[in-house]
Amino acid sequence: SDGKLRYDGRVAVVTGAGAGLGREYALLFAERGAKVVVNDLGGSHAGEGASQRAADVVVDEIRKAGGEAVADYNSVIDGAKVIETAIKAFGRVDILVNNAGILRDRSLVKTSEQDWNLVNDVHLKGSFKCTQAAFPYMKKQNYGRIIMTSSNSGIYGNFGQANYSAAKMGLVGLANTVAIEGARNNVLCNVIVPTAASRMTEGILPDILFNELKPKLIAPVVAYLCHESCEDNGSYIESAAGWASKVHTVRGKGSVLRPSLDDPVTIEYVKDVWSKVTDMSQAKHLNAIAEASGTLLEVLEKLKEGGADAVEDTFEFNSK
Ligand code: NAI
Repeated sequence: SDGKLRYDGRVAVVTGAGAGLGREYALLFAERGAKVVVNDLGGSHAGEGASQRAADVVVDEIRKAGGEAVADYNSVIDGAKVIETAIKAFGRVDILVNNAGILRDRSLVKTSEQDWNLVNDVHLKGSFKCTQAAFPYMKKQNYGRIIMTSSNSGIYGNFGQANYSAAKMGLVGLANTVAIEGARNNVLCNVIVPTAASRMTEGILPDILFNELKPKLIAPVVAYLCHESCEDNGSYIESAAGWASKVHTVRGKGSVLRPSLDDPVTIEYVKDVWSKVTDMSQAKHLNAIAEASGTLLEVLEKLKEGGADAVEDTFEFNSK
């Protein structure tokens, strides 16, 4: 072979593939031999209306280039129907890119319950429903690659995006657990944190940035994460403008909140050690929930043996 990474025999479902980032993912998968389900509801960026055109245009594009694709017009909220389209057309599903999304930006106080619900339904529940429907097929065939789409608006917050931020950070939590539940069957789940010029960011990003943030530059990152040679699981990868980086959560060294096990925790003690509680100079990434609870046990042991000083002197969390 010419060394190109291929997806022959694989079936890829890309949600919201009628435009923007999803369209680029779909085109690239098809170009490299995957059979693609181009899902798109075809509504407005605020989630109003529906049209078959968005998905049809991309399916035509793929077919004209010699690729294989079918359109699916369901909302991702009906995830079972989306996956059913893949099974009916191609008999399997190997790759699921949860990408569909809408925006209903309002400041917190002005966010209506309807705007909250629809944004969370499309991003978070939609990704849950599609993933839940694809999961049994993937586990059974001992192969699957799933992508959740988060956002810097979730990770850092962004004025006027309470509903969107919550949904996008929710997707990180969902990915964490999907990664754990699928690992044994080679069903891996990772998160893409993109920034790209699309109708979603038009008028929000400065012009000079907008022109350089081509969605096409991110597609190879998502495609690699979905290739059989990529063994990442539970990674958050930020990418934009032809650049990418892994993102981690970290925890500081922390501090005990009482002199000994027999002492109560007081507000005053908390205040006194607050600079240690919030000191991130020795922060570390933890790989699993067991490491987090492991530290707690270790702290308790040390506290029992020699009080707060013993914890301070000897406690060294080993992340290996
Ligand atoms: P886009 O608006 O161009 O594409 C989103 C597509 O999803 C549209 O074609 C839309 O019709 C479709 N869609 C909306 N609701 C749907 C539903 N219920 N079911 C099926 N399809 C539906 O936006 P873009 O920028 O390509 O965004 C793709 C994803 O990337 C979204 O999840 C977005 O939140 C995320 N993202 C984008 C960023 C950016 O800078 N463009 C930044 C961070 C995250």
